[in-house]
Amino acid sequence: MNSSVAAQIIEAMDAQTAAFRADVIAGLSEADKLLPSRWLYDDCGSDLFEQITKLPEYYPTRTETGILTSNAQSLAAFCGQQAVIIEYGAGASIKSQILLNALRQPRMYVPVDIAGDFLAAAAERLRKRFPALEVLPVAADFTQEFDLPNAVPAEFKRTGFFPGSTIGNLAPEEAISFLSRVHRHVTDRQSADPQPGRTLIGIDLKKSTDVLIPAYDDAAGVTAAFNLNLLRRINRELGGTFKLDQFQHEARWNDAASSIEMHIVSSTDQTVVAAGKAFDFAEGETIHTESSRKYSQEGFAAIAADAGWRVTQTWTDSDDLFAIVGLETL
Ligand code: AVI
Repeated sequence: MNSSVAAQIIEAMDAQTAAFRADVIAGLSEADKLLPSRWLYDDCGSDLFEQITKLPEYYPTRTETGILTSNAQSLAAFCGQQAVIIEYGAGASIKSQILLNALRQPRMYVPVDIAGDFLAAAAERLRKRFPALEVLPVAADFTQEFDLPNAVPAEFKRTGFFPGSTIGNLAPEEAISFLSRVHRHVTDRQSADPQPGRTLIGIDLKKSTDVLIPAYDDAAGVTAAFNLNLLRRINRELGGTFKLDQFQHEARWNDAASSIEMHIVSSTDQTVVAAGKAFDFAEGETIHTESSRKYSQEGFAAIAADAGWRVTQTWTDSDDLFAIVGLETL
């Protein structure tokens, strides 16, 4: 690694710590304490999330993978021949491989992810698995505005791909901004007879709390460890003094928001220092760390319409737990 690359990495880390510090100070100063869920994903948090996806109670990952596998041909037909697939928050591109495998002569795969080094390694693995496919990784935060590189060919049909129900972790106004961004990325602005752009979005459907609560508060305690790891991270990165045995994980259903919320509950009255500031907690007071919104198909169609999309196809499992929704530009 040359010294300018090392300097850029240190600068990015400093910016990340400064943003974390600002969010912790602002969030713990609120009357209803909250922290943005993106801070759950340090190395340990990402590893714990990976373990969550394999838990018996956590149905979304295996259900969505089942829908993708059972409907690969029809999903591929939705994308069309010589498709350009743009995946948002691609990570290790596990689910996209099911889709790529079924596509006819895919033109290009564009994985977008904030973790640039991880993304480059995943892109290299994909090039080996699909030698005829052009892979163009883009290091960007999909929750913020960004443009696709000019190397993404304009003359082929573009399909956005956002599996995993991560859209449920965005507030409704953030979900609309995100869908508007995807709309812009897939819209053909060059031809005189523009083709509709497309996108496939994984959404978790509304269901009984008998299923939802255990999915977010599993018997083995992995989700609890994932949530409480945020306090460890504050202790490590921001000189926090959280005592982990004095806080507990809680999963609650918020009916008005149609969301499962993760909270960290203080089991006693206490004062904690973090980022050089003192924060008081009353017994039972919580920090809200994540919302995971569960959509009805109609509710999601309404949000999509606000961003200029119409639902043209939906693929679900036999228990209607999860859906992959196919949208076309209006
Ligand atoms: C990443 N995201 C879709 C997960 C979800 O289900 O909302 C995050 C998660 N939180 C607790 N368990 C899983």
